Amino acid sequence: MGWRPYAKEGLHPVPTCPAMNRICWWNIIATALWGSLLGLVLPACSPEEEPASPLDLTPYELEVPAHFPYPDIPEDNVLTEARVELGRRLFYDPILSRDRSISCASCHKQHLAFADDQPISPGIAGRLGFRNSPTLANVAWLNEVNKDGGVIRLDLQATVPLEDHAEMDFQGILAAERLKEIPLYRALSLRAYEREPSTYVIVRALAAFQRTLISGAAAYDAYLQGDEQALDPSQQRGMELFFSDRLQCGSCHGGFNLTDNSYRNNGLYEQYEDHGRFRITGDPMEMGAFRVPTLRNVALTAPYMHDGSLPDLDAVLDHYASGGSNHPAKDTRIQGFSLNAQEREDLILFLQSLSDPAFLSNPDFGPLD
Ligand code: HEC
Ligand code: HEC
Repeated sequence: MGWRPYAKEGLHPVPTCPAMNRICWWNIIATALWGSLLGLVLPACSPEEEPASPLDLTPYELEVPAHFPYPDIPEDNVLTEARVELGRRLFYDPILSRDRSISCASCHKQHLAFADDQPISPGIAGRLGFRNSPTLANVAWLNEVNKDGGVIRLDLQATVPLEDHAEMDFQGILAAERLKEIPLYRALSLRAYEREPSTYVIVRALAAFQRTLISGAAAYDAYLQGDEQALDPSQQRGMELFFSDRLQCGSCHGGFNLTDNSYRNNGLYEQYEDHGRFRITGDPMEMGAFRVPTLRNVALTAPYMHDGSLPDLDAVLDHYASGGSNHPAKDTRIQGFSLNAQEREDLILFLQSLSDPAFLSNPDFGPLD
């Protein structure tokens, strides 16, 4: 799962025909001369062969729920219609994997809130990595990406699955070569970034699309926005328990995205095979610490935890109720508690109220064509 920064590429925008610059005119004249020698005249840049694709910065209007902050969008990757469309096509296209068998969507499925139902999702040739596929809902608000925060910008994250042996096992440069052969991708790439397809373009376009994957229309959101009927009495009791001092779930899973984005050891194991945040910081107090995940759409993202080891929400509640395993780095809030049957049901119904059906079926997030 190592990631390395991609090499800077010396790519230049290619002059396209409508600009009618000198290079183009010379092409046309030269082609006409050669063509007349051969008895046929072909314009160098006929619209069919080389689609006109000047940079198109038509902004993409992000629909941010009123009770969410506006996400930070990097200046070098502002959201445009062309970037989002390119990213969306790439997200669903197995062309990015070595054997053309796996796309991002193989492990991040829209109907499962862009997570997967496998403990560990297979990559190419059935290879298994070591972590559970997380939801991509609201990744626009992540400063640090992956469960250990090992990637510092969403715009770089895609190099990890692209190059990981157990995921797509490919290279950005080779993927870009494939895309250059396809007129639609070439045109979209020029429209989106004024560049030929490259690693630079692929990772940024994927990030642009993923920033549009916003989930903020669950029953819980309607309740927060003043519709008191949106949660039934059982769900409201579950919500109170969730945020109570006794359970303290909300102290880590709080805020608009039901996470404080901190890294915590929640007591899953006495010894962690996956060292989590420790891999990045080397700090023993971060051994077995993972980023507190959002609980949005959590009812759909089973199995749970970094390794997919807990099969359902009942198992998650059993884990927290037990107080977890003894580990020196375990967060002090994981102490254990007891729940009666009614409380357990209330809590689970509350967690289900975090599902956002509109997100799961939003046609803008599905494949094109
Ligand atoms: C073989 C399954 C698989 C494929 C294919 C895959 N992912 Fe993932 N994805 C994962 C897993 C597992 C993680 C967790 C990685 C970690 O924490 O180290 C992850 C993490 C992520 C994250 C970080 C989310 C977070 O909460 O930190 C993003 C963003 C992401 N993937 C996007 C993509 C994109 C874009 C592609 C296609 C280029 C892709 N993934 C392909 C399995 C996959
Ligand atoms: C000290 C912070 C903390 C507290 C308190 C806490 N959690 Fe968590 N929670 C985490 C962390 C960290 C993870 C991810 C652990 C991992 O990936 O192995 C997690 C994972 C989860 C998951 C799995 C999500 C997924 O997508 O895999 C659920 C569900 C969950 N917690 C619910 C709760 C509930 C319910 C409570 C209260 C009973 C609670 N949490 C209390 C930190 C906390």
